[in-house]
Amino acid sequence: MAKSIKIFAPATVANLSCGFDVLGCCLDNVGDEMKISITSIPEVKISKIEGADLPLETQKNVAGVAVEALLKAYDKPVGVDIEIFKKIKAGSGIGSSAASSTGAVWAVNHLLNEPFTPHELVAFAMEGEKLASGNAHADNVAPALLGGFTLVRSYKPLDVIKLHSPSDLVMTVIHPQIEVKTSDSRSVLKQNVDLKKAIQQWGNVGGFVAGLFTENYDLIGRSLEDVIIEPLRSILIPEFKAVKEAAIAKGALGCGISGSGPSIFALSKSMETATIVSEAIREVYSQTGLDFDIHVSKINNQGVRIINQ
Ligand code: HSE
Repeated sequence: MAKSIKIFAPATVANLSCGFDVLGCCLDNVGDEMKISITSIPEVKISKIEGADLPLETQKNVAGVAVEALLKAYDKPVGVDIEIFKKIKAGSGIGSSAASSTGAVWAVNHLLNEPFTPHELVAFAMEGEKLASGNAHADNVAPALLGGFTLVRSYKPLDVIKLHSPSDLVMTVIHPQIEVKTSDSRSVLKQNVDLKKAIQQWGNVGGFVAGLFTENYDLIGRSLEDVIIEPLRSILIPEFKAVKEAAIAKGALGCGISGSGPSIFALSKSMETATIVSEAIREVYSQTGLDFDIHVSKINNQGVRIINQ
């Protein structure tokens, strides 16, 4: 049995406009790296974090609390050492905390010869999200663990479904270099929803899921609409409207806030369109004077993967 493993922990786009806290998808070429080792001292230790100023204390680190949740359920004395090489910036809206908690539980489960299914790991990784944002949402950790597009059908009991992922879909993501904390971005939301808007939103969730399974790209595009969350959160994101208009004008199927922002995603039907969309978005943001990153990524249908063993 291998005692140590290096893994790629992917970034994710949650919500996908219509599916606040329930829809998400996994990116292919954006993510963290982590080295996880099984040790003889039965404790969870974070021995190294590079690329971000995050706590090394196990109880304050999302990877630490997620692994502790797994080991509690495993119920045998196991020691774990975690090294984190952050590439996803905190507060970016592309699942930075989810990548850390997911990567850690996936790797520990692998090193223990897989006592838990990937679906079972979702609950452990959610403990990291609870620590990071005060809310144990699963729409980033589920796609990072299962790959592709995922739906959280229910939180109580937890019921996560992996959806079909049409191979032509490509994500463009712009990350303006401002930090929007998920907890802050959640605090601007209203606790009650207008019935007419709710009808529109759940119609879109159904349409989006049907569009994925039937590979109906027009339907996917029509369903990428958010009448509840986006109007409240988009004011936190500079040039959101201009980016969205530019992306749609260049052929994106849809465009919206990635997770809790400030990143913005645009979904396209081909790498060619996604690249053209990225240039149009770059043009818009170049005029703001803000620093930003742009990623163009296929959908990662696998989730966390091994770099070396
Ligand atoms: N669904 C969560 C939110 C995702 O929008 O607050 C956070 O990344």
